[in-house]
Amino acid sequence: MRFPRRTAVVTNPTVQALYGEAVRQSLAAAGFSVTLVIVPDGEEYKNLATLETIYDTLIRQNFDRTSGLIALGGGVIGDLTGFAAATFLRGIPFAQVPTTLLSQVDSSVGGKTGVNHPLGKNLIGAFYQPLHVHIDVQTLRTLPPREFAAGLAEVVKYGVIRDRDFFAWLERSKEGLRRLEEAELVEAVKRSCQIKANIVEIDERENSLRAILNFGHTFGHAVETLAGYGRFRHGEAVAIGMVVAATAASELGLCRAEEAAAIRDLLVAFDLPVTPPDFPLAAYLQAMGRDKKVREGALRLVLNCGIGDCTLRTIADPEQLFTSVLARLPSL
Ligand code: NAD
Ligand code: GLY
Repeated sequence: MRFPRRTAVVTNPTVQALYGEAVRQSLAAAGFSVTLVIVPDGEEYKNLATLETIYDTLIRQNFDRTSGLIALGGGVIGDLTGFAAATFLRGIPFAQVPTTLLSQVDSSVGGKTGVNHPLGKNLIGAFYQPLHVHIDVQTLRTLPPREFAAGLAEVVKYGVIRDRDFFAWLERSKEGLRRLEEAELVEAVKRSCQIKANIVEIDERENSLRAILNFGHTFGHAVETLAGYGRFRHGEAVAIGMVVAATAASELGLCRAEEAAAIRDLLVAFDLPVTPPDFPLAAYLQAMGRDKKVREGALRLVLNCGIGDCTLRTIADPEQLFTSVLARLPSL
């Protein structure tokens, strides 16, 4: 399907200042008409109120089913724009131009779109695939280092859960990646997208396999909840969660202690935190009890089998497992 010529580019002031004009000019030069929709920057604006402002512009400017939306920005813009596209006039085409590492390797792939509700993150949304994703790794040069590192956590995740060779490549390429070398960035983004796309092709609606993308997220979400949103970037919390999951896997005999250490070392090399903040075990267990993978009260964890494979396991005695795991890890 040809992308509609009439487009609205949804972005925020930060990304607009950096790339808005270049994108507008290149779309105009290619024959697209462009309306700019600028929404405030920040996760707190990924909500129904912001969505309504996008609909307002589209309706006032007579956008119809032959129009399309383009998300220019990180995961917040991508999720918001994707959901606007999924719902405006019951669905119009959309494209993603992700500009953070996290959005290039994760949120722009797989079609999860949506907004937050005051009672929880991403509670309102739709599966809606973009028609096109355009990634330019040069945009990562302006990204704050902490945001870049947070994206790398998801890149490491793909190697651990699905591709041992990719993990080994990341170990060899860590210096180039830290220096933002183009060849290394392109390879890291390309292989991450391939791994995620392969999983989503098998299980788009997360009935089974797609759950493995949550490796490190069960404990990571507990860290985010307990620390209060804002102290850790999502990728930082996931890095801590992956080290906890790998240590749990080693406790349960699914991976060797050296493999868990290699995962931790690679995350440290990417300037990511790896030690759990010092909250009581009971608080961690309670927070993990609200994980989406909990079934009939039983905690289920994605655990790595060595490096390059993983499994979803029901944990019979979470208290016993996490007592041993946290005892093996220093805390902040
Ligand atoms: P973000 O979109 O908030 O971007 C982080 C910051 O970087 C923002 O201030 C943004 O304006 C700025 N920025 C973006 N590109 C820049 C650039 N090139 N240079 C300088 N600054 C730039 O955060 P994110 O980490 O990209 O995305 C997080 C969101 O993604 C969350 O809402 C999360 O729920 C969602 N997410 C969705 C999926 C999915 O499958 N749909 C997967 C993972 C995460
Ligand atoms: N980020 C998890 C997923 O897309 O399923």
